[in-house]
Parts: sequence; C-alpha cells; structure tokens
Amino acid sequence: MKEKLEEIKNQFLEELKHISDINSLTVLKSKYLGKKGEITNILKGMKDLSPQQRPLMGKLVNEIKNDIEKHLNSKENEISEKEKRKILEEEKIDVTLPPRGTSIGTLHPITQVMNEIVEIFERMGFEVVEGPEIETDFYNFEALNIPKNHPARDMQDTFYISDDLVLRTHTSPVQIRVMEKQEPPIQIIAPGKVYRCDSDISHTPMFHQVEGLLVNETVTFADLKGVLTEFCTIMFGVDTKVRFRPSFFPFTEPSAEVDIGCVICGTKGCRVCKDTGWLEILGCGMVDPEVFKSVNYDTTKYRGFAFGMGVERITMLKFGINDIRLFFENDLRFLNQF
Ligand code: DAH
Repeated sequence: MKEKLEEIKNQFLEELKHISDINSLTVLKSKYLGKKGEITNILKGMKDLSPQQRPLMGKLVNEIKNDIEKHLNSKENEISEKEKRKILEEEKIDVTLPPRGTSIGTLHPITQVMNEIVEIFERMGFEVVEGPEIETDFYNFEALNIPKNHPARDMQDTFYISDDLVLRTHTSPVQIRVMEKQEPPIQIIAPGKVYRCDSDISHTPMFHQVEGLLVNETVTFADLKGVLTEFCTIMFGVDTKVRFRPSFFPFTEPSAEVDIGCVICGTKGCRVCKDTGWLEILGCGMVDPEVFKSVNYDTTKYRGFAFGMGVERITMLKFGINDIRLFFENDLRFLNQF
C-alpha cells in the first residue's frame, strides 16, 4: 500500500507538470482529492487494514494528501500570477501613441456673422444695446410711424400675444427705447431675434436683425452712405459694388435700400440675383420727424439716420447657402463646415 501511495504521488507530480491553466488544475484536483479521487479511494480502503497498520497508514495517507494539496495550492498561485501578468502586459498603455484628437464645437454661423457685424460697427464707434423680444404695439409699430392700418401689422406677419403685445417683428423698436431714455448724441446698434409668421426657403418664423441708429445735430445722408458703404466693403470685400436705391419705410424719410453687386456672378446676372446683378442686403434712411415726435425730440434741432439688416440673409450671401432652414435644423454635417 505504501508503494501504491508513492506511485500515486509520482503520477500526480508528473501530471501537475503539464498543467498551465486553472480549469485543468481543477480537474486534476478532483481526480486525486475529489469524492471518487485516488486518495479518497485509499482512505476508503483503510477499513480493511488491521488495527496495527491503520494508524501508520493513516498518517502516511494524510501526509501525502497534505503534500498534494500544497502542490495544488502553489500551482494555483503560480497560474493566477501568470494570468495577472499577462493581463497587465496586454493592457499596457503606450503613452507615446498620438491621441485620437477631441472635436471642439464652434460658434453657429449666424452667431459668427452677427459677431462680425457688431465688431465692424463697434470699430466705427457704435455702442451695442438690446431690447425685449416681446414688445408693445406702441414700440413695435405706433412710435415708428406705422399706423393702425399699415400692412406690416397684418395678422399674417405678426405674432400677436394679446391685443397690445407682439413678438417684435423687427429690431427697430429698440431705437425708440434708447431715445426715450437718452438725449442725443446717440450712436447705437441693436442685434437680436425677431419674429414673423412666415416660413419657406428664404423665411423662418424666427430670425436675426441688427438695427443701427445715429442721432445728433449735423448728420446727413452722406454720412449714412459712408458708414454703410464702409460696412459692405469690410463684410464682403474691398471690391464689392454698393448702390443705394430709393425705397419706403414709415420710420425714415427719405428711405433707401442698399444693394451689393451679386457675390455669385459679379454683376452679370444669375439665379441668385434673379438676373439683376444686385442683391438687396439692408434698409435705411434719415429718421422721420414723426419718430422724433413720439420720443419728444426737438425736430428742428436733431437729425438722424437708421438702418436695419437681416443676419440670416447676409450669412447666406457670405457663405453661398441657398436654404435658410439649414441654420435651424442643427445638422452637424452642415454646422461643422463653419
Ligand atoms: N425694420 C425694417 C425691417 O424690419 C428694417 C429697417 C429699414 C430698419 C430701414 C431701419 C431702417 O432702421 O431705417 O424690415
């Protein structure tokens, strides 16, 4: 029996040499120490031994069993160490590899152009002011000499909140708010959101305008022409052609619209400029005395000019964008181009 035990132990040691993973080690363990294992079988056979032999053999079997357990434990440690090392090796980070690069957001094209417009006028001495997007009938219409029956008040264009409150349809009411609070000289621009009940490829219900107002005792239409021509050439390039065309606005007299030579075709005529060679980019004029009256300015003493432009329109012309709705769909493939 003693030889048998020696044999089992040697056989175990031999098999152990070839084990390199936890699963095979578990199988080996149960082959020797499990319920039907070799050592367990021997222990079961102890009852057939004589009372003298039993303690001797018992001691021997226990020694071998302990021995096998020790070997199994140290093998298990060895395997788990090896596996840990392998994982560390595999997950090693190469700090010399170039990083994947982070993508940083950019300002919306409308914001970019709005900032650019504001900057150009700031450099010419205009100060930025803001007004509320919900306006009263007085500021949005009445004080700007837009009488009750004027087509601009039509339900189709204006979002009414109540009989007296509207979402402002233009930034011009800021002119009135500034003049009410302040005596001339005034030289301001008012950028902001405006609202009109309109939606197609060149109109959205919300869009942006920049308003300008300059009031003092001496300003003339020539100053207006100078300021706006300067603006157009900075915005669209030194070679940009600029023309002032007579027009009508209730709050200016005389009024004009400013066109630039078509940025697409020069002035040859194309689809974008509807074959005219010119693109309308803003409205302007000398402040109508009726407007001065509504803020109690002395109309014999003060004169002023005003202008207003749509930021979406300028952005579209600057970047050659043909559908205004693209600005508000938030498609990154579009926005990432700016
Ligand atoms: N408020 C006008 C609009 O919304 C734009 C405008 C035209 C503003 C002429 C002005 C101006 O100050 O003088 O279409």
